[in-house]
Amino acid sequence: MSSSIPEQFTGYAALDEARGKKFEVERWSYTPKKWSENDVDIKIECCGICGSDCHTITNGWPSPTSYPAIVGHEIIGTVVRAGSNTTHKVGDRVGVGAQGACCQECDFCQKGLESQCAKGMIGTYQGRFPDDGSIAQGGYAEYTRQQGKLAVKLPEHLDSAEAAPLMCAGVTVFAPLKRHGCGPGKKVGVIGIGGLGHLALQIASAMGAEVYALSHSDSKKADAEKLGCPPENFIIAKDVKETAKKYNKHFDILINTSSGADMPLETLYFPLLNNLGALILCGLPEDKLPAFYCQQLVGKSLTLAGSLIGGTSEIKELFELADKHNIRAWIEKRPMAEAQKALEDMEAGKSRYRYVLMN
Ligand SMILES: NC(=O)c1ccc[n+]([C@@H]2O[C@H](COP(=O)([O-])OP(=O)(O)OC[C@H]3O[C@@H](n4cnc5c(N)ncnc54)[C@H](OP(=O)(O)O)[C@@H]3O)[C@@H](O)[C@H]2O)c1
Ligand SMILES: [Zn+2]
Ligand SMILES: [Zn+2]
Repeated sequence: MSSSIPEQFTGYAALDEARGKKFEVERWSYTPKKWSENDVDIKIECCGICGSDCHTITNGWPSPTSYPAIVGHEIIGTVVRAGSNTTHKVGDRVGVGAQGACCQECDFCQKGLESQCAKGMIGTYQGRFPDDGSIAQGGYAEYTRQQGKLAVKLPEHLDSAEAAPLMCAGVTVFAPLKRHGCGPGKKVGVIGIGGLGHLALQIASAMGAEVYALSHSDSKKADAEKLGCPPENFIIAKDVKETAKKYNKHFDILINTSSGADMPLETLYFPLLNNLGALILCGLPEDKLPAFYCQQLVGKSLTLAGSLIGGTSEIKELFELADKHNIRAWIEKRPMAEAQKALEDMEAGKSRYRYVLMN
């Protein structure tokens, strides 16, 4: 092992739930999982702040957070140690998304759809490694050890900080848009214009769809236009009844990226969809969704879909699309040491549209 790689990795961790609620993170060191020749050690250059980081730090989701927790799964860095079973070499610039390990053997893994791994996905943070039972720690740190298979080599022309949000936010919206036939002739509505949503607008328009934004205020209207949504397609869905009437059966695809649980499914989203349309749920609210009558779905043969991040094959495809259509995350760089302030600002809805923590 290179003598410059520390035995312990240091990052910014939420130490317990009470402090997590205030987004208090402190410098904390841990011993990374036992080295395997399938792994790479990465010296982290930068890491995006995903909405999921906030849910995890505050223990907001039904599966409890294991503390201490270093979050961050939009990681870009340089390989400093490469396992002999990997295709990487020291010096490679790579990205790691929300998945840090997989079985590498099942049909899904073989196809590069590792987030569907038959043996279960091992998260970049909070995942439990089967080899030694330790909990994975994420990218708000100086180093990380992840499976080489899940570290994707970055095309030279992609800027590290701009590429970071593609690793989770970007592929999370790209994969289901592709799966559900986003393309020319399709009307696609993006609900929630944040980290995921601002990339969904760019990606859906690059894929040739007619793009709409559904936002809760007009504050992002000018930005949305630059992201591919014409001003007349910017919908503020305050008056649910009126919006449902105006855009009745208008959409082929709605993709929800909002973490609000108060989803107007029956009153708005289902009415907005045309027959055979699809509502894709990407946002992960902390509460259950409102119940609805099946007739609402069955009546127009709608698809209600969920989608979990994306695999390496989808990330590589997204890189190509990003290159071809100049898709770039809108980022604001923050020093890694100011992770707590950036998390607080993210929670307050100030991000336009991704904070990227820089080492
Ligand atoms: N499925 C997956 O694999 C996956 C992957 C990554 C993230 N996620 C989840 O996706 C969600 C969004 O993540 P993100 O990083 O894009 O977050 P974000 O940057 O905070 O964006 C969320 C956007 O949702 C809208 N919103 C409306 N009501 C809201 C509410 N009550 N609380 C928060 N936002 C609300 C806001 O847009 P407007 O101002 O336009 O209304 C906001 O900008 C999170 O729940 C995250 O955990 C899921
Ligand atoms: Zn994420
Ligand atoms: Zn697998």
